[in-house]
Amino acid sequence: MLDTTSTEETSVGNYFISNYPQYSFWKPELVNHVHDVLNNPAPPDPLPLGLYFHIPFCRKRCHFCYFRVYTDKKASEIRAYIDSGIKEIEKYGAMPYLKGRKPKFIYFGGGTPSYLSVSQLTDLTDRMKAVFPWDEAEEVAFECEPGTLTEKKLDQIRKLGVTRLSLGVESFDDHILEINGRAHRSKEIIRSYQYAQNIGFPQINIDLIAGMIDETEDNWIRTVKKAIELAPECVTIYQMEIPYNTTIYKEMKESGKITAPVADWPTKRRWVSDAFDLFVEAGYTITSAYTVVKDPDVKFVYRDALWGGADMLGTGVASFGHIGGVHVQNEHDIGTYLERVTNNEFPIYRAYPINDDETLIREFILQLKLGEVNLDYFKKKFNEDIARRFSNTLQLLKNDGYLTYSVNSIKLSRDGLLQIDRLIHEFFLAEHQNARYA
Ligand SMILES: C[S@@+](CC[C@H](N)C(=O)[O-])C[C@H]1O[C@@H](n2cnc3c(N)ncnc32)[C@H](O)[C@@H]1O
Repeated sequence: MLDTTSTEETSVGNYFISNYPQYSFWKPELVNHVHDVLNNPAPPDPLPLGLYFHIPFCRKRCHFCYFRVYTDKKASEIRAYIDSGIKEIEKYGAMPYLKGRKPKFIYFGGGTPSYLSVSQLTDLTDRMKAVFPWDEAEEVAFECEPGTLTEKKLDQIRKLGVTRLSLGVESFDDHILEINGRAHRSKEIIRSYQYAQNIGFPQINIDLIAGMIDETEDNWIRTVKKAIELAPECVTIYQMEIPYNTTIYKEMKESGKITAPVADWPTKRRWVSDAFDLFVEAGYTITSAYTVVKDPDVKFVYRDALWGGADMLGTGVASFGHIGGVHVQNEHDIGTYLERVTNNEFPIYRAYPINDDETLIREFILQLKLGEVNLDYFKKKFNEDIARRFSNTLQLLKNDGYLTYSVNSIKLSRDGLLQIDRLIHEFFLAEHQNARYA
């Protein structure tokens, strides 16, 4: 039985699904599978390779942030972190599975990659390129907090080879930014956006969050209209979620509240839907449950490669990756991470080798987030007839108006797309249902 109709308050927990099986199934005792992959050469025609590096530093911790970040690190500690990151990357670069391969995409995530200085960034990327050259990379993506950007820094970021600049705007309203713990204000957004536009990045993305603390309908529409005015190539809209390790959750626990001080899920979905309508009216195309793009040919290589089963080397503290069919996550404490790299070890905390069926489900549920799935892909790659395999679940979701399907494709309705991360649990294997996410 599907229970997909209840109206819900926002309580603690994860909404966004970035992987399958969930992180809670990854275990330290499975790390030997990563070594098995690394010690053997890749096949002659290997999977596309991506390289992710996590920069865990921020000026301030946002009240809704659930990522591994540090706000108190000195320049010498940042230097030590970069040195360790490079040592980790060099160690991977020497392994038979990765030796000589060139990444198709690079991603600097955080935290705040733009927290680093120009000289730190230059040093980091020069040494990275010496191990994994970027000359075949189709995309180099880089996350920024607007208040950390100067024209000089942005100019250098472009010169390093960044093609997709992602600005964590979240809202254009100063009160919303302040009360949610953001470090920047709207003036800094506009200033940094204009610098970036003048420099001419091939793609600028801005992140927005629907349902931040104190958000109202009018405010939200103003934020969306402001985003349309700036006309970035890509806009990513998240629905505010309150995972366990957020400041907001800590405050809820202390005051005994079970409902977060943010809009409920139906309201957030309505706001995203309104935003989609306004973007479409302005000429944008919806390309996933979270993104609209100005030019439908604009690609997001990182997402599409990852959701198509690519290899991705996740480096830096707490980062996750996927190598030769094995999920990998690094140590999530910076001290432990540094210590293990110093000891000449891979700083891997836990892993999970996915079997063929889990691989199929992973790609299927991630691709559902795009709003449309081509079922031929699964027939060719996995010899699986998705429509038959999941006929019961698909029929129930269809009856509820969340999707339509034929033998060749599944198409989400707007209503289905806006709650896809909730619906995809229905496709999980029984042993992964109702499990902790992280
Ligand atoms: C890893 S964060 C990095 C952003 C960057 N450090 C900055 O400050 O702009 C990437 C994005 O995740 C989204 N995000 C983070 N926490 C969230 C939450 N609790 N709910 C919804 N989206 C969230 C935000 O839009 C954010 O820009």
